[in-house]
Amino acid sequence: MFESDVYKERRKKLREEIKSGVILLPGNGESPMNYPSNAYHFRQDSTFLYFFGIDQPGLAGIIDVDNNEDYLFGDDTDLASVIWMGPQPSIKELGLKAGLNKTFPYSKLEKAVKDAVEKKRNVHFLPVYRAENIILIEKLTGIHHSEVNSNISRDLIRAVVKLRSVKEPNEIAEIEKAVNVAYEMHTTAMKLAMPGVYEKEIAGRIEGISLSHGTPVSFPVILTINGHILHNHYHGNMLREGRMMVTDAGHETSMRYASDITRSVPVGGKFSERQKEIYEIVLQALVQATAMTRPGVPNRDIHIEASAIITSGLKDIGLMKGDVGEAVARGAHALFFPHGLGHMMGLDVHDMEGLGEDYVGYDDEIKRSDIFGLKGLRLGRRLQEGFVLTIEPGIYFIPPLIDKWRDEKKFPEFINYEKVESYKDFGGIRIEDDVLVTADGSRVLGKPVPKTVNEIEKTMES
Ligand code: GLY
Ligand code: MN
Repeated sequence: MFESDVYKERRKKLREEIKSGVILLPGNGESPMNYPSNAYHFRQDSTFLYFFGIDQPGLAGIIDVDNNEDYLFGDDTDLASVIWMGPQPSIKELGLKAGLNKTFPYSKLEKAVKDAVEKKRNVHFLPVYRAENIILIEKLTGIHHSEVNSNISRDLIRAVVKLRSVKEPNEIAEIEKAVNVAYEMHTTAMKLAMPGVYEKEIAGRIEGISLSHGTPVSFPVILTINGHILHNHYHGNMLREGRMMVTDAGHETSMRYASDITRSVPVGGKFSERQKEIYEIVLQALVQATAMTRPGVPNRDIHIEASAIITSGLKDIGLMKGDVGEAVARGAHALFFPHGLGHMMGLDVHDMEGLGEDYVGYDDEIKRSDIFGLKGLRLGRRLQEGFVLTIEPGIYFIPPLIDKWRDEKKFPEFINYEKVESYKDFGGIRIEDDVLVTADGSRVLGKPVPKTVNEIEKTMES
């Protein structure tokens, strides 16, 4: 945990934003895999962690705005648990670490919330993504479970997004730690990417590296020679010469901050001319987008600029044609780059996505587009100092999408389908860094993971 004052200060700021009522923040419980005592790896709710910092199941917090008080609900471990799990800090001790001294047994939570409901005080809660917590909120508030997610507090969402979007120095340091472990994961993957090796051997090794630092990966490892399948979790292929291996993987620190890095490398260690051509376009898009990243600039504009670089590069090698600006405005490049340039990152790898993507990435000024490609952009609004985001352009040759567009005669003025046909065996390339928006620009976080053609070939040689 951070120092207790960190959590006190965050709750104080939240109270200032919300003004009245009570804020209910349930933590997560254990989630069984196949019988109750065989649980999945425990993951605390990120917003609970942000305001209370305690990384264990069976807790709930209340921030009482009207009475300027914070309460923590949870039970001390009984002797049976001590026998199996060892001694645990008391709920009182945990409360002090989180900067509060009003702690109660979990059974008191129901009365606390019911009293507030009876007094017609506003009970604010966030969107709920776990069934157990939907049932809990039904029990506490009397709102039918099917209506819980329609009764969320938009004021609370906006306030939490406002606070969590701007990272404190202690959070940035955590994210850098996560990137440094990702450095180890990615350079190891590069060195193992030789013909005859199976994807699962490498995926297992890099997940092991994350675990060897004490905590798991920040999301399921994507490692594939079929990088045109954007979130490919199948690891059963044998690597063969001529394919690119896309690895999209990150680490979660003991404080639960994420990294999210992607690298694409040629199996065997040497780029072919064709691979190099496509790679250099994606790299240029990444470098330019990073250079544009600064406070005040809408991330949507950076996405559009990256799309223009991709379009112009593809035009140079004859895969696209026509006017670059018009092609991008109409979304023709999305055949090759169908996703967004990046997303916020922090306690969640897609930070705060559970609160609603549009609250996190858009605002009254910048609304989400409905054009294929641009509509996948998770972060469109103007950047602010302290934001941490990913920048992750890519070029993919997705056979079913190519076939569909060609059959529909979509954008024949911008796409050279005949040439594209000969790239259907290419796969895909994505390159992703984690970037902090600074006062006057941006900084790529953590130890730089090899990224240029030269750096990658050198790393794979060793
Ligand atoms: N790293 C996976 C994603 O950004 O969706
Ligand atoms: Mn990402």
